Amino acid sequence: MCENLKNAIIAAGQEHLLRFIDELSPVEKAAYIEQLTAVDWQQIPSLAAEYVLKRPEVSIPDDLTPAQFFPLLAKDEAMSELYAKADAKGVELLRAGKVCCLTVAGGQGTRLGFDGPKGTYPIGPVSGRTLFEYFAGSISRASEKYGKTINWYIMTSPINREATEKYFETANFFGLPRESVFFFTQGTMPAFGLDGKLLMSGKGSLALSPDGHGGTLLALRKSGALDKMIADGNEYISYFQVDNPLVPVVDPRFIGLHALENSLMSAIMLSKTNPKEKLGNFCVSQGRTMIIEYSDLPDELAEKRNADGSLSFVAGSPAIHVISRSFVESLTSGGTLRLPWHRADKKIPYLDAAGELQQPSEPNGVKLESFIFDALPLAEKVMILEGDRAEVFAPTKNATGVDSAESCREMITARNARRLALGGVEIPRKADGTVDAVIEISPFMVLDDADAVALVAENGLKKLFAGEKVAL
Ligand code: UD1
Repeated sequence: MCENLKNAIIAAGQEHLLRFIDELSPVEKAAYIEQLTAVDWQQIPSLAAEYVLKRPEVSIPDDLTPAQFFPLLAKDEAMSELYAKADAKGVELLRAGKVCCLTVAGGQGTRLGFDGPKGTYPIGPVSGRTLFEYFAGSISRASEKYGKTINWYIMTSPINREATEKYFETANFFGLPRESVFFFTQGTMPAFGLDGKLLMSGKGSLALSPDGHGGTLLALRKSGALDKMIADGNEYISYFQVDNPLVPVVDPRFIGLHALENSLMSAIMLSKTNPKEKLGNFCVSQGRTMIIEYSDLPDELAEKRNADGSLSFVAGSPAIHVISRSFVESLTSGGTLRLPWHRADKKIPYLDAAGELQQPSEPNGVKLESFIFDALPLAEKVMILEGDRAEVFAPTKNATGVDSAESCREMITARNARRLALGGVEIPRKADGTVDAVIEISPFMVLDDADAVALVAENGLKKLFAGEKVAL
């Protein structure tokens, strides 16, 4: 091990990491040294002091106001004209191949009680089609519709990269051109013990964890994804999370408005259903747009109401963005990007001083993550557009209850019922108005309302029966 590295580790107050190094085989030692070399040792003491040894205060600016947004329905004629122009612009950009998709899929299905990459979770209410298959289908149909292959960038973490790629291989990439799907891996951060010492997961390994979806930006550069986007002429990145199968993988109006407004990073907002809904909140301070996480927004601001009784901080984030490639390029030029870190206290298995692996029953350490939406205040221009919740947002986060696989499947059925009804199909309903059937429509065939209406006509579909399970 080179002296410089050893000295840097000691200077950072982390010499315990070298405790077992002489017990390692040459191969193990080489792998460990590679891990240690990747750590920014100069940064470690200040991270420990700022985020671990003291609990970081989330500073809420005094001048915080709710962010402005373009409403779902145009308010006047000028806005109608702008929306029509945006629709046309979005279609033009899609036809010209200027748009690519990006899914952040570093998370595991832990909260869902699912063992595997979250994207491989079977969400289809009839077919059991996975989250990844939903996106693949929509991207395939959009590519067909706009006459251009839409590249798909998928960010994994080191924990699920292999399993994710294997899954796509086995599924034959769902028929997508192999070269249009680009996997890349996000960075990691070493986990700290509550005493500010880094934790080890083995005698020759640090306890590392994914660095949060804020790591996407730098990982795009480091992985060569940005270079591929440049080579392929992709200028706009349609960004979404792996947990939302209803997401419009490319939304012409959203993309078009982003371009027409010269925005660098845009966002879809949804009106929150209640003050404490678990969505990030769009706010403005000193002219800069930012998202304040639901857990950080003080109650008095979350509960604040306008004269008409509506929530003041009404705009919640479904984590759907359009990001200009040029913005990612400028943020990461020089190969670095400093977004703020967010602390999460976790139960982290660790190697004790005797070299025994311990499984703590209480949080014993700190993981640090950065969030992609912390790039919003760094953008000169941001655009926010209201989305239609029932059309675009059905997050699958928990096993049951709110934001669960169950609620997601119900929302898939509800959207499909609405789309079939547009084509004239009679939909059975329960007394409370909910759909009395389970309906799945292949995303490979139907991207939007127009596709659904065409499908109904082609199949001569007239009516669904109560309790029926339908897969089209
Ligand atoms: C997230 C947002 C919240 C938003 C909500 C909408 C954060 C911190 N909060 O909440 O503002 O209103 O979604 O549903 O993101 N991921 C990675 N790598 C990581 C961490 C996460 O790829 O290191 C991916 C996950 O796979 C997932 C997404 O990021 O696709 C969101 O992560 P998650 O931790 O589930 O965020 P939420 O708390 O659900």
